Order: sequence, then C-alpha cells, then structure tokens
Amino acid sequence: MTWKIEGFLESRDGRLYIDGVDAVELAREYGTPLFVYSEPRIRQNIARLKKIGDVVGCGFKLCYAAKAMSTLGVLRAVRDAGCDLEVNSGGELLKALKAGFSGDQLNFNGLSKEVWELELAIENGVYAIQVDSLYELSLIEQTAKRLNKSANVSLRLVPEIESATHSGLQTALLTSKFGMMPEEAFGAFVKYNDSEHLNLNGIHLHVGSQNPSPDVYTQAFEEMFNALLRIYRESGVRLKHINLGGGFPVNYLRDRLQADDFPADEREMFEADFEPADALREAWNAVRRLAEKENVVDLLEGITLLLEPGRSIIADTAVCLTTVRNQKTRPLAQNSPPYQGGVAAASADGVVLPAETTPPKGGTQNSDHWLLTDAGFNILLSMETYKWYYHLISAERAGEEHSFPYKVAGPLCDGGDVYFDVEGHGRLPDHRLLPENIQPGEVLALLNCGAYSLAQASQYNARYLPAVILTKGNGKAELIRKRDTFEDLIANDIY
Ligand SMILES: Cc1ncc(COP(=O)(O)O)c(C=O)c1O
Repeated sequence: MTWKIEGFLESRDGRLYIDGVDAVELAREYGTPLFVYSEPRIRQNIARLKKIGDVVGCGFKLCYAAKAMSTLGVLRAVRDAGCDLEVNSGGELLKALKAGFSGDQLNFNGLSKEVWELELAIENGVYAIQVDSLYELSLIEQTAKRLNKSANVSLRLVPEIESATHSGLQTALLTSKFGMMPEEAFGAFVKYNDSEHLNLNGIHLHVGSQNPSPDVYTQAFEEMFNALLRIYRESGVRLKHINLGGGFPVNYLRDRLQADDFPADEREMFEADFEPADALREAWNAVRRLAEKENVVDLLEGITLLLEPGRSIIADTAVCLTTVRNQKTRPLAQNSPPYQGGVAAASADGVVLPAETTPPKGGTQNSDHWLLTDAGFNILLSMETYKWYYHLISAERAGEEHSFPYKVAGPLCDGGDVYFDVEGHGRLPDHRLLPENIQPGEVLALLNCGAYSLAQASQYNARYLPAVILTKGNGKAELIRKRDTFEDLIANDIY
C-alpha cells in the first residue's frame, strides 16, 4: 500500500497532485504552512459512513464532529454532502448556524456548558443537548422553563468500555471525565418523565478516538441496548435515539515505508483500518438477537442510531504543505544511534536502542541531517501531546525513492517541537525517510492532517495561522481561510 489514492493524491511528473492540483504551485502561491482539504474526498468519506444506514434496521443520523475541523468552508462542504453536525460549544454552534445547518441537524455535546450556550441551543431547537451530569440536567430544565420552551436532551453514560487507543483519547472509562453513572441516568428518566420542559429522548456514549478494534462498537451498542430496555421497563419511556459517538480509525500508516519503525502497539493503532459499516452490521446483529430474546424488537427498530465521527470524515482529506527553511548536520549524540531501520526499542532508562535484526534502509551514518520546517506543533498539536504520526513526503519529488533518513523539526522555540519522540520512549520513528539531498526551499507534505490540527492551532511564538485551500475536483481549488496577518495577531490586545 502506498500513500497514493487514485484521483485524489497522486504523483504526476514526480510532483504531488491533490485532486488534480499541483501542490507545489499552491505552496508557492499561498505560502506555507498551508492546509489543503479535498471536497471530493470529504464527500467520499461521508458516503462511506452513510452506508451504515443500509446495514442497521432502524433510523440513522450521521453527525460530523465539528471539533475535528470547523473552518466554515469545510462545514459547508460537510453540509452539502448531506451530513449533520455535532458541536461542542456555543462557538461551534454559532459556526454551524452560520454554515447553514438548522437546529434539528445539530447535536450539542460538552461538559462545562454556560447558560448562554444552553439558551442558544434551546432557542434553536437543537436535536439533542448531550447532558453530562444531573446538575446539568436540572440547569437545562430551569433554562428551558425560563425561555418557556422545552429542550431535547440525551444523557451521556460512562459504561466502562476500554479501547486500545491512547489514554488521552479514551472516553468511556470511569477514570475519564465524561458522562454520568448509568444508575443516575436511569433515575433521571423516572424523575423527569413528565417534565414540561425536558424531552428526554436518548442516551449517548463515545468510546474514544482512533479505536483499533471494531468489537468496541458491538460492546457499546449492547450496553446501550441494555440501558434502553431498562429505561423502558422502569419509566415506560421509549427512547428516540441512541448515540454511539465517533472514533472510527484512519490508517495513518498507509505507506509501509516507515511502519517497521514503530513499537507494535503504536503500529497497530496507527494502521488500524476497518469498514465502519461492517462494524455496525455486526453490532446491529448482536443487539437484534438480544431484542428478539427480550421480545422488544419494535423498541429497537423504533430508534434512530446516531453516530458522530470526526477523524474518519476529515483526517485523510487534508495535507499540510510545509517548506524546509533551514538545515544542519550534527555528529550523533552519545545516546542516539544512527538510523538502522526497524523498531527503536526503549531500554529501561529511556535510551533508545535500534533493532538489531532489521537491515538498514538508507545506510548508517556518522551524523544526523536535520531539516527545520515551518510546520510546528502550533498547528499540529497532537505531534507533541499524543506523539501523533503524520507521514511525510517530498511534494516536489513525490515520485523519487524516499529512503534517506533525516531528523525533522518544526520552527518553534520549544524543544518539544520535533517530528520524533523527544522523550526518547521510541513511540515515533527517530528519523523520517525522504529523498536524498533535501535543501532549504523544498516543499514537503504531511499527509492525513485534516483532523485535530488547525482546530487545535495556537499563535504560540506569535506565528501566523495558515491559510486553508479546498480543492473541488477537476483541478479546481478555492481559498477558504486566509493566512493570518500581524493585525490578526494583535487584534484583541489592548494597550
Ligand atoms: C463525544 C465525542 N463524539 C465524537 C467524537 C469524534 O471522535 P472521532 O474524531 O475519533 O471520530 C469525539 C472525539 O473524541 C467525542 O468526544
């Protein structure tokens, strides 16, 4: 498998083309770092997820998790592809309305909502406010009463489902900060059954992000079905929806070139790849068997299944173009072995040891070749917080062999701004493989950069936030976000 995706990511005359647009020309015209998103790819990903509606025997509603990337042009592309939205704050809610979504297309998550945010959600009649605690539920009731409206709500449960993803991305464990205990939720359905101002319509959970195993969706659906049944039996309420969250994985290691450089568990997570519709078919079949046993198939078939994926809709639709701004050669540090290929294993004291068994790729060297790019963790925060991997290629020499090892780092005045695991735990490859003799000025491309990148960006080091391009297919491209200027940097400073 390679990074190429026919009709979307290609090498033409040796250069990287995105939807038929020359990436290097875009970089020269708009400057780097530059995010390039593909509208056709967004449509494809949404169409792929919508197939879930064909394999479950109930209603189906797909909501894109806006927190993964919420530039208005992208939200519009998502809306035009026929997908609804999950938002996490008043700000995201306002953006959604601005992008043309209506209230009934919106699901409002989040665990520290302010009253103005609740008012906004209730006034706009959102499909569901996902409630995180009993305190929040009573606040919503009071707010709706004051507005003389009724609020659609759904209770978020914390059912203790473990996923083999990064600990910071796990969200269905008691140790995570999300959700309420199932017992609390069951009590709430009884207590608020006759409320004039609350429509308790559903229950919600989200297992985590980049879940490598499809089985967690069966586990999650079964848990939710059991909850639905108990709610019905204890309070007589027939739930309208069950929300199983997002979390489908994206294969960040499509190109096998560097796959051997990862520890096994990291590799398994980064290269996870399954068909969401297959996972949900399995889950539906399991839950339907339960419903037959309990003689409540009508209860199950009467619900709408909600999913709110972010990463699997947007991650592989975007590339981050970056220019090499500086280079240097350094003798190898004492604890830093030359690149030899294969797994870098960390010893007990954190010193990284090269695998002895794997033959060298690109040759061993006595020095490290460093490339300093203009894309740092200010725009790709996960590289630092989760040691996330984005595959790196040369956009100018995409067709050439990538086998020369470089140490690569971003521009920030911060030692953590590197493309390897600076803590020395070997979670990321120490070296990136690129064509030989890369010089300042060469444009590189970080792939699969669409999710949780610009959405988490900061102006750290007073760096200008980048422009965003949306390719439209047939070689067309549109600027959907301007690059920041100095005025943007100081817009809200008062002196
Ligand atoms: C509640 C909720 N829903 C949906 C998502 C989207 O997850 P993903 O981008 O992994 O699909 C998240 C992200 O972690 C989340 O917290």
